[in-house]
Amino acid sequence: MPLPDSFLQELKLRSDIADVVSSYVTLRRSGRNLVGLCPFHGEKTPSFNVYPDNGSFYCFGCHVGGDVISFVRKIEKLDYLEAVRFLADRAGLQMPESRADDGMAAQRRRMLELNRETARYYHAVLNSDVGREGMEYLRGRALTLKTIRHFGLGFAPPGRFALVNHLRDKGFTEEEAIRANVAFRGRNGGAVDRFFNRVMFPIIDLRGNVIAFGGRVLGDGKPKYLNTSDTLVFHKSGSLFALNFAKNEQADRLILAEGYMDVISLHQAGFPTAVATLGTSLTDEQARLMARYAKEVVLCYDADEAGQNATARAIPMLRAAGLLVKVLAVPNGKDPDEFIRSYGDQGYARFKSLLDSTGNDVEYRLQKLRQAHPLDEPAERVAFLTGAAELIAGLQNRIEQEVYAGRLAEETGVDRSAILRQADSIARKRRGEEKKKEFREFQRDAVGLRDRVNPDKSSNLRAAAAEEALLSAMLRYPELAQLAAGLLSPDDFVTAFNRRVFQTLTQKLAAGTELSLSAVSADLSEDELSSVARMMARYHDVPASERDVKEYIQVLKSEQAALRVRQTAAESQPQELLSYLESLRNQKK
Ligand code: GTP
Ligand code: MN
Repeated sequence: MPLPDSFLQELKLRSDIADVVSSYVTLRRSGRNLVGLCPFHGEKTPSFNVYPDNGSFYCFGCHVGGDVISFVRKIEKLDYLEAVRFLADRAGLQMPESRADDGMAAQRRRMLELNRETARYYHAVLNSDVGREGMEYLRGRALTLKTIRHFGLGFAPPGRFALVNHLRDKGFTEEEAIRANVAFRGRNGGAVDRFFNRVMFPIIDLRGNVIAFGGRVLGDGKPKYLNTSDTLVFHKSGSLFALNFAKNEQADRLILAEGYMDVISLHQAGFPTAVATLGTSLTDEQARLMARYAKEVVLCYDADEAGQNATARAIPMLRAAGLLVKVLAVPNGKDPDEFIRSYGDQGYARFKSLLDSTGNDVEYRLQKLRQAHPLDEPAERVAFLTGAAELIAGLQNRIEQEVYAGRLAEETGVDRSAILRQADSIARKRRGEEKKKEFREFQRDAVGLRDRVNPDKSSNLRAAAAEEALLSAMLRYPELAQLAAGLLSPDDFVTAFNRRVFQTLTQKLAAGTELSLSAVSADLSEDELSSVARMMARYHDVPASERDVKEYIQVLKSEQAALRVRQTAAESQPQELLSYLESLRNQKK
């Protein structure tokens, strides 16, 4: 029961891909397309292309591509129907009724309702007699009532069935509570509350949905924090605590702390751009998410060893996402929450001055190098300078490189130009290695070795190239699509995937649908759509004519013939094969 084509065409018309992508990625015009840094993988030079004339996008770096709907699916992590709904809302279009509520989308909406009800319940308990202990705990940690309300904090009562019973009264089944991970299945088969006797931190996504919970024990029990595991609506490694608030600040700078309490303390003290990961270490996905909302991240992890290791890991990830990175060291081994609290009313001013005096990550890493290599020993000094040159080599900006080289020269008595030369040679080597790697990938890609979507390609390169040029021409030129559909049948295609795409295209044509990537996006998986987007991107600047189409068809027919010969040979019995070869030899004579 697909969506009506007329609706999809209207949606496509009203959802300009350049407009939609621009709200996530800074795009710059380049010829007929737009380019920018890919939001789906970390990169420093843009390989992400948007083609407004045919409504597609493709990244030559990570090979992800598709139409405006698949872009929204990927960036917002939605399924097909949800992405359509997202775009329909944006364009002010009404979803067709029959498809308004079904499948995955409906399950997700139901789970979000359950989560919201759960958050409401925990919050109400916190404000009631049953929640007194929880309230005392949070007040004891200097949270104001306003902060508690702002974050929607709550309390899970000590009983084992309090939430499950409440949800049942509200019409949710035990099965639903278990699936949302707010309950688990007990020994006797019934649902048991997952959280009890804990203060609760709801985790809220960028659209204001409650997607998960973290719960803290009141005292020193273990585990200190319990978090919802991944569910249909919660993807831990792609979410950040309090980003829903931080993003509204429209600030250039986010503060990345380690824990829920640090973030809440920071917000309460007047730093509403603090966010945290959800009990796991930072992922590339989270780094890219931050890069969508800020230019700079101040790392503000705990001063303990674990925090410092996490800092060292996070720096390159944030940089790779295109962010400027600063590292704030909280003095006296405190975490941000303890630091702010220890200064009472002075918390804001004290933390602000830490923020303002924070060096960038180069300084932080130099400091770490200095600690590891005492400069008074010659061998250590060399090790220090080698490490420092590697740091400088990684800087994008020449002026920055010169500044640091100058400071190091003063510090160590080594020539500034010698330090720069060393850094340049490291940078050259790195670039060489990257180029080599890119070239190897390009080669593998070109011969179709990695093509999981179309495994037939690697042994039928010539045919596959003709098929792809042909399909891309059909998608770009309506008159050529008609021509090809009239001259070819699916059987003329050599590789299975391309044959299926052709079949889909001709079916759409027969139904009177205008061909585009969106027209076929419901019929293909995400990987398959990326493959078609790649064909379109490859041939985007290659105009196609009627003659080209006929030539591609010629190639296909001759490749088909060659293939039949090969297959006959392979299927023949040895005796038949011998006589077949004999007959070939006779033909030649
Ligand atoms: P407080 O002790 O309440 O101040 O906690 P905190 O917010 O300062 O957190 P801490 O630095 O101890 O830990 C940082 C983050 O790691 C927490 O906010 C949790 O997200 C996570 N975390 C800490 N302890 C546990 C645990 O036992 N289990 C899990 N799953 N996550 C934890
Ligand atoms: Mn803490």
